[in-house]
Amino acid sequence: MNKDIKILSIESSCDETSAAVVVNGRNVLSNIIASQIDIHKKFGGVVPEVASRKHIEAISVVVKEALEEANVKLNDIDAVGVTYGPGLVGALLVGLQYAKGLSYAIDKPLIGVNHIEGHISANFIQYKDLKPPFVCLVVSGGHTFIVHMKDYGEFEVMGETRDDAAGEAFDKVARAIGLGYPGGPKIDKISKKGNEDAIKFPRANFHDDSLDFSFSGVKSSVLNYLNKKQMKNEEINKEDVAASFQKAVVGVLVDNVIKACKIKGVDKIAVAGGVASNSCLRETLKKECKKIGVDVLIPEPILCTDNAAMIGSAAYFEYINGRIVKEDINAIPNLKLGER
Ligand code: KG4
Ligand code: ZN
Repeated sequence: MNKDIKILSIESSCDETSAAVVVNGRNVLSNIIASQIDIHKKFGGVVPEVASRKHIEAISVVVKEALEEANVKLNDIDAVGVTYGPGLVGALLVGLQYAKGLSYAIDKPLIGVNHIEGHISANFIQYKDLKPPFVCLVVSGGHTFIVHMKDYGEFEVMGETRDDAAGEAFDKVARAIGLGYPGGPKIDKISKKGNEDAIKFPRANFHDDSLDFSFSGVKSSVLNYLNKKQMKNEEINKEDVAASFQKAVVGVLVDNVIKACKIKGVDKIAVAGGVASNSCLRETLKKECKKIGVDVLIPEPILCTDNAAMIGSAAYFEYINGRIVKEDINAIPNLKLGER
């Protein structure tokens, strides 16, 4: 029988410091997440320098806790996986440098992981039998992609945002209607009491066969609507604004990912990233996919937001394919999917 591969993984690309122990890319023994959200809330968004400083404080604690909770000794670890991009450079460097030191100390390989590949891999943890090929919709605070995962470690980007990420648009609109940061979950919540057909916000449609997205138009349209209302001293129904905005964003996400699925002839759509927790996206995608006999895979919320377990899963598939990184690996803030 083949030996189990235990990976200690580290994630610090944005505002969560996280460490995990994952076996064979699928079984999570621990997944410790120290979130900085409460600190960044005061500033209405993530402040990069503050994020780096908080990662430095938290990193040793979360790694220790991850090993303890997994009941695993450092010597039992087969490899160290770490996010090296995309993300905030100062934040990435903290996790990367820590992982380099650790891999040297225990004399085990270091595996650099693309954060977006990590988000996609969360699906391998949730669905133990899942294998490529499938199409994945990656929707987070910093990224919006439609990806065809042909095989482990093989990705084709079929569509991406030309401006704001989906989560970023949620956060900006939430701020404009006074809901605070992070706005996505708050928009999701109040939308349940609103009328999604109350206001017609535009959807960006590109005139070619592109599966790209643009969310800055719908965001500006919400801001204009709010300005006009304020100038006329008219009351704003926040619930209706939130629900109508959400419908516009979810509509285009669902339409494009279904088109991608038909183009590739696959029967599975996976979703990844923080916005995958959005209840309207979950329900609409499931409803539309049921009509065409396509399975929808959405990991539980803790695996959708930033966490190290997803990095440990992606690292495992890199490891078994022999993709061990060199000692001079650096943080790459704008690392592209599939780039190595
Ligand atoms: O994946 P993630 O934790 O971090 C990044 O890598 O960006 O995603 C965070 C984003 C934030 O923009 C947040 O507002 C959004 O995910 N988000 C949601 C929901 N939960 C989190 N957006 C819409 N509806 C939600 N329920
Ligand atoms: Zn992320």
